[in-house]
Amino acid sequence: MSANFTASPFVGKTFGVTVEHLCKSYGESAVLHDVSFEVRPGEIYAIMGPSGSGKSVLLKQIAGLETPTSGSARIGNFDAADPATRNQVRLALVFQAGALFNSLSVYDNLALYPREHRLCDEAGIRDRVMHALHILSLEKSAGKLPAELSGGMKKRVAIARALVMEPQLLLYDEPTSELDPVMSATLSEIIATLREQTAVTSIVVTHDSNLALSIADRISILMDGRLRATGKAAEFKNHSDPVIANFLNPVIDLQNPRFKQLEQSHE
Ligand SMILES: Nc1ncnc2c1ncn2[C@@H]1O[C@H](COP(=O)(O)OP(=O)(O)O)[C@@H](O)[C@H]1O
Ligand SMILES: [Mg+2]
Repeated sequence: MSANFTASPFVGKTFGVTVEHLCKSYGESAVLHDVSFEVRPGEIYAIMGPSGSGKSVLLKQIAGLETPTSGSARIGNFDAADPATRNQVRLALVFQAGALFNSLSVYDNLALYPREHRLCDEAGIRDRVMHALHILSLEKSAGKLPAELSGGMKKRVAIARALVMEPQLLLYDEPTSELDPVMSATLSEIIATLREQTAVTSIVVTHDSNLALSIADRISILMDGRLRATGKAAEFKNHSDPVIANFLNPVIDLQNPRFKQLEQSHE
């Protein structure tokens, strides 16, 4: 099997994403406030921010899993919130937990989507699945059950499964959480390689600054549901905003630890 992607079935049209004045509330609780940014076709775009800042909620609005309270998210010229958009754009989500079917082998997990959507015959499905497994160095695991795999392998299977859909937009939510540093670096390489070889637009929600700074073209920082900064990845290596610099590169100060500052502010 060839690893040459110019002949790959995965190369296709890709879409940019435009988020405009997006607000999202759940009842009385406002989570996202007037968020606007644009992801260009073929870009790797990282959305970073502390836990609870609204990153996963933002990704859900882009994926069309939820509808914004006001403002919009568009994929190309399609409204992300319109169910018909899913017929126009193949988008794949790689969730935090991977969400594989435990009773199915790796191969059958990957074959599920093309079988359900009757994308091609079994021989065609086999080609697609084996190609995706090859890209992620998982050929030897085709017959295994998810329970037999390490955390890093499960993540790779989740990405391979997304790839079988031939996505035109790939959304990752914390792809390196729970991975050791070497596996995280491997995953960063995989995301960058997929974009290079399939030109797919990739939005990566992460608080892994290594990942964002090494592979993203541009980064947005979300804090308390507001965009605090947007720029090229290189601009974030030594950011002039002390809040952002501290978030990306927190200094451990044993003379003046944070938890003691918190205690004092509550006295
Ligand atoms: N369906 C929901 N209903 C109510 N609140 C929610 C819902 N989903 C998320 N939230 C709240 O929105 C905030 C941001 O959540 P989330 O986007 O998951 O943060 P993170 O940046 O860690 O991904 C949190 O305070 C969370 O409790
Ligand atoms: Mg999240």
